[in-house]
Amino acid sequence: MRREIMLVLLVLLLGTAAHAFAGEAILTVKAGETLHAMSQTLYGVFFEDINHAADGGLYAELLNNRSFEQENLLDPQRFDHYTGWQFNFGGGKGKIALQEEEPLNANNPHYVRFTVSEAGYQAANAGFGASTVTGGISVKSGMTYDFYVWLRSADYTGTVTAALMDRQGTLYSDVLTFTPGEEWTRYTGLLNADVPEGTQAAYLVFTFNGTGTVDLDMASLMPADRIGSTWPGGGVRRDLTEALKALHPRFLRFPGGCVAEGSYVRSNFYNWKDTVGPVEERKENYNTWGYMQSYGLGFYEYFCLCEEIGALPLPVVHAGLLCQSREAQEAPIPMDELDAYVQDVLDLIEFARGGTDTVWGALRAEMGHPEPFDLRWLAIGNENWGDVYFKRYAVISEAVKEAWPDITTIVAAGPVADNSSAWSVIRSRYADSMVDEHYYMDSDWFPAHVSRYDSYPRTTQVFLGEYAAHEEAVSGRRPNNLYSALCEAAYLTGIERNSDVVAMCCYAPLLARSGMDQWTPDLIWFDADSVLLTPNYYIQQMFSATLGTSVVSSELSGAELYQVATRTGNCLYVKVVNLSGEPCRLTLLLDQVPDGEASLLMLSGESAAVNSFAAPETVTPVSEVRPVSAGVLTDTLPGYAAAIYSIPLE
Ligand code: AHR
Repeated sequence: MRREIMLVLLVLLLGTAAHAFAGEAILTVKAGETLHAMSQTLYGVFFEDINHAADGGLYAELLNNRSFEQENLLDPQRFDHYTGWQFNFGGGKGKIALQEEEPLNANNPHYVRFTVSEAGYQAANAGFGASTVTGGISVKSGMTYDFYVWLRSADYTGTVTAALMDRQGTLYSDVLTFTPGEEWTRYTGLLNADVPEGTQAAYLVFTFNGTGTVDLDMASLMPADRIGSTWPGGGVRRDLTEALKALHPRFLRFPGGCVAEGSYVRSNFYNWKDTVGPVEERKENYNTWGYMQSYGLGFYEYFCLCEEIGALPLPVVHAGLLCQSREAQEAPIPMDELDAYVQDVLDLIEFARGGTDTVWGALRAEMGHPEPFDLRWLAIGNENWGDVYFKRYAVISEAVKEAWPDITTIVAAGPVADNSSAWSVIRSRYADSMVDEHYYMDSDWFPAHVSRYDSYPRTTQVFLGEYAAHEEAVSGRRPNNLYSALCEAAYLTGIERNSDVVAMCCYAPLLARSGMDQWTPDLIWFDADSVLLTPNYYIQQMFSATLGTSVVSSELSGAELYQVATRTGNCLYVKVVNLSGEPCRLTLLLDQVPDGEASLLMLSGESAAVNSFAAPETVTPVSEVRPVSAGVLTDTLPGYAAAIYSIPLE
């Protein structure tokens, strides 16, 4: 009775207050009326080494082109084997020569020979740029850095030192001293940084204090404070890893994107075997976004990263085809030569899951992880289409299913939202695969298509592997503004409502180093020192942190809002998005909900608002509480807002 009286009062109240709000809405939620179970792997992240996401980004290596393998077959003017290095940095006299004879190993064929004629000659690595405007490496006082370098000498007399210093030679760390021997040897040490306040970026500087010839290869500098320092690749940047973890990702899709495929020439295929084993033996390759991949963040490290951030691994392998979006490229692997590649794919699964008595399982154990990784899915192909793709997909996925029947293979549905022709092939031939959809659309497309999955047959599971709301570019870059994030939020209400058919989804791309980006928008921006979280990031985080176990009945009347209601055993989540610029008075009518307090997490602001390095908290979620009484919660949603109410059910 009390509830009925409240409702009558409420309706009267809404009537009298109508002039104050452009919108009013009543959302009736029946927590006891379950519609379907929700996918427990719905939200994840998609990592690709685009925008220097890996090298110069998540990968903890601070030196750029540490092993002189940098080259770009497509654009030789852009990079060369000396990229990132400066020679004749200080005094002394010497010559340098790029060498290939008797290298460190066959996979790491280039090194630099220093022929020093006057002691004091210096060479320096400038890192990836301490900021968007200056070169150098950002090092911090009081921090320790792990360093190593491979050296060899036949006739050198004297020592080689390594230290951090500025461009003028002011020391920023202690000095490590090595006496190179006749064989390639790895020399290691710790550098403790002491950087005066407000000074410039540092360089890692080698000083040749003797004369003669020294060969140098594979130098490395990583902050001791990183995650994964025992991984053979060396580990990942702590702040970025923590930002990923805070998204509560259920899975990690890697290593691309187009990167997983490679472009133009078959030697550019992403070969997972090149990315495992001792780090100095990994065979580098340039990536499709124009720079070199050191592979220090390789497949082993990706699997470890998954464990670190609490995500399940979702590797993508190419389907014997280079990135089809790029034209004028080498032909795919012929069908009658596919066997060797199929074996590579099976070897990858063995690497992840095989016993330590198998060849690849043994390598995994040797690298530090005897236990298998929890590999459940394998995507074969990225953005592919046509018979040329499906024929190869069929062969590879059949082989996988035969050897590992519990692994779900994922088939690509091409690069566009209008993918019905791909779906008709898939439904007729590969209905038991999961289907990877990709689409980047104007922001307004997303709310307009919130019902996209309502009509999808429930027989085949969808993986929305890449999506993002695109705004018009400003100065060449599409902004990560609040409006785009809210359009994604509106769309996610539709995804959640259809999470019986959409099993997984992830925003793309994930990371971008400021000033070194090739693609916008991106979920997380960073520079040498800081991490910038976008409004789009916060939406992903808010939705992922409040993943229900089932979708419950909800019905909206009144103003146009986007909404979904889900629940766990003891909590009801109501997600509401207001895409209009006007506030809306919202009434939640809730059954089976005790009196108490709901917590509210809300992202709102100016539609064009963005976060920037100068003002990183312009758009951040705020937490508040709202009373729930007699099954009613009333609130005023601001214009341009996404709100998530977490309402205790007991
Ligand atoms: O996410 C950026 C790129 O977009 C991916 O590499 C590719 O799959 C898509 O075209």
